Amino acid sequence: MTLLYGVLGVKQRPVSYKPLTILGIETSCDETAAAVVRGIAPGPGEILSNIVFSQTEAHAPYGGVVPEIASRAHLEILDSIVEQALDEAKITFGELDGIAATAGPGLIGGVMVGLTTAKALALGAGKPLIAVNHLMGHALTARLTHGVAFPYLLLLVSGGHCQLLGVGGAHDFRLYGSTIDDAVGEAFDKTAKILGLPYPGGPSVEQAARNGNPRAYDLPRPLLNRRDRADFSFSGLKTAVRQLAQQDISVNDACASFQGAVIDILRDRTQIAMAMFRRDFSTGNAFVLAGGVAANQAIGAALAKLCKEEEFITRIPPPRLCTDNAAMIAWVGVEQLTDTAAGDALSVSPRARWPLATGPI
Ligand code: KG4
Ligand code: ZN
Repeated sequence: MTLLYGVLGVKQRPVSYKPLTILGIETSCDETAAAVVRGIAPGPGEILSNIVFSQTEAHAPYGGVVPEIASRAHLEILDSIVEQALDEAKITFGELDGIAATAGPGLIGGVMVGLTTAKALALGAGKPLIAVNHLMGHALTARLTHGVAFPYLLLLVSGGHCQLLGVGGAHDFRLYGSTIDDAVGEAFDKTAKILGLPYPGGPSVEQAARNGNPRAYDLPRPLLNRRDRADFSFSGLKTAVRQLAQQDISVNDACASFQGAVIDILRDRTQIAMAMFRRDFSTGNAFVLAGGVAANQAIGAALAKLCKEEEFITRIPPPRLCTDNAAMIAWVGVEQLTDTAAGDALSVSPRARWPLATGPI
């Protein structure tokens, strides 16, 4: 493989201390995205373009993402999204330092489309390829936006993940707790479906909760006050919403009560993780909230209040960079282009599962 790429002229990873310009590609779920980012670790970086095509309309009739529809839609539109990203950034392939693409975790068909396209572009343009862990994209976004230095405490809350991690470096993730059942975004999506709200669920539940009373219904808060680990559980909460929905209820009050329970759980678990982080690291006082659910303003405000009490500094990327995008993938490219541990990305296979703790492929 290495010999083949040598013949085709793929460049070796450069050792560079100048800002790098990277094209990022993201196709792991239902957003087809491409972006061009320029920067150098620890950031902040410059987003030259950030194109996100959301497939929401295609999946809405099914109330959730249909993998086959997603991969076909990525295939149809990715080329033109990449072109748009380069045009908007006023960058040619020749001016790029590298191409970064999500290699997992995610829906395997979509990941294949993005990664294969990136491999072809890297080969064609003679540029290095960086195979990116999507979760690392979310985890490092606060460096792109705010230049947050290592170490920091991270709460990663998305459609498929809910984890509290101590981040000591780009390859040093210490797991303090994770969900033992559903992810928090999944709980938002299922709650929306149960209550008859439109897909995608998170934003609709947040919107309805604005006009509801969070104390209207008493919903469970599983694992609250567990001191040994910062784990989460959301499936009991979802079941309680399902039972509640069989009665004559106010949807706004149900959403507010659900969101209130989620906030109590996230606050309690984060407080435990803060103590674990302090035991692990002698420096660092930043708390980073990342992933799609970090776009929720009520959750952000509640966790910012906790940070004030616990003397942490809150760093939350803007909503557009919390939900899936390719700028975060390009940023991981910036951080990893010179990283010899990242290996030969052209021989990397797409991965449906790829926990953060396992490091590069
Ligand atoms: O990170 P993301 O865009 O995709 C994954 O990698 O999963 O996260 C998507 C999740 C969905 O479950 C969506 O409902 C949730 O983030 N989400 C929200 C909000 N915006 C998106 N959840 C609560 N409130 C929001 N405003
Ligand atoms: Zn995501």
